[in-house]
Amino acid sequence: MSDQVAQAAQSAGSDPIVRVTGISKRYEGGVQALEGVDLDFPEGRLTSLLGPSGCGKTTLLKIIAGLLEPNAGEVQVAGRRVTGPGPERAFVFQDFALLPWATVTRNVAFGLELQGISKAERREKARHYIREVGLTGFEDRYPHELSGGMRQRVGLARAMAVDADVLLMDEPFSAVDEQTRRKFQEDLLHLLSVEKKTVIFVTHSIEEAVYLSSQVVLLSRRPGRVSKIIPTDLGGLESPDAIRRSKRYLDTVEDIWGMLKQYLLEDEIK
Ligand SMILES: Nc1ncnc2c1ncn2[C@@H]1O[C@H](COP(=O)(O)OP(=O)(O)OP(=O)(O)O)[C@@H](O)[C@H]1O
Ligand SMILES: [Mg+2]
Repeated sequence: MSDQVAQAAQSAGSDPIVRVTGISKRYEGGVQALEGVDLDFPEGRLTSLLGPSGCGKTTLLKIIAGLLEPNAGEVQVAGRRVTGPGPERAFVFQDFALLPWATVTRNVAFGLELQGISKAERREKARHYIREVGLTGFEDRYPHELSGGMRQRVGLARAMAVDADVLLMDEPFSAVDEQTRRKFQEDLLHLLSVEKKTVIFVTHSIEEAVYLSSQVVLLSRRPGRVSKIIPTDLGGLESPDAIRRSKRYLDTVEDIWGMLKQYLLEDEIK
């Protein structure tokens, strides 16, 4: 483990549940998406991945999910090597990936169906998480009858319902307006305070990353490598407004913007 990784894991204050070692991925056709990625994700914490478009964030999430095989390196979850998808990991996709022909309830319960859980229990769990994300009354609607924000809530409820320890979230709030997004962020932090989950969260928003995370990982331009790990734990502050107004939050946002700007400048010089 690099010093940087060890330091971040220590500052986040808990053991890693997901450990990524030496991951490289080259797609057929020759695109080198990732190279030599080492990362530790501490248990019960939210880690954000930030980096330029195309640097391999979604690729890394898919590898952790076991949906894609790396060319080199390995992923361990709770000490066990990942060889495919598993019930302890749930994926919230960039485009929701809802089943268009299924109702909200069925979509939320879908992961449970795959786990072989009884119909009565599925209904009960689905009802609970539909309420948690504020969609009570929409149980029998189909995805095309919902707004983009509501569809994202269904995706979040589905991920929470499968009771996975690890949530892999790929820009889950990207398609909604700013007010809805802030509400989602607060809802997510609330859900995480009630149910201990380890979250790996991809976003393009520096503010969102700093607000939600215990640590922010900056990836370099393609091929994605870890260029910096920034401990950001602001959760000790009492309210969302206090966090967003705190000097530490504002300074961290500006520091990260300074680092990302560097990549943009390098791009222009090339
Ligand atoms: N199935 C695929 N086959 C070939 N190349 C791919 C495939 N999926 C992704 N890539 C390429 O790999 C690189 C990394 O893609 P990836 O989707 O992981 O980036 P990203 O960081 O998630 O980008 P964004 O921020 O735009 O979502 C890109 O250059 C992309 O074109
Ligand atoms: Mg992506």
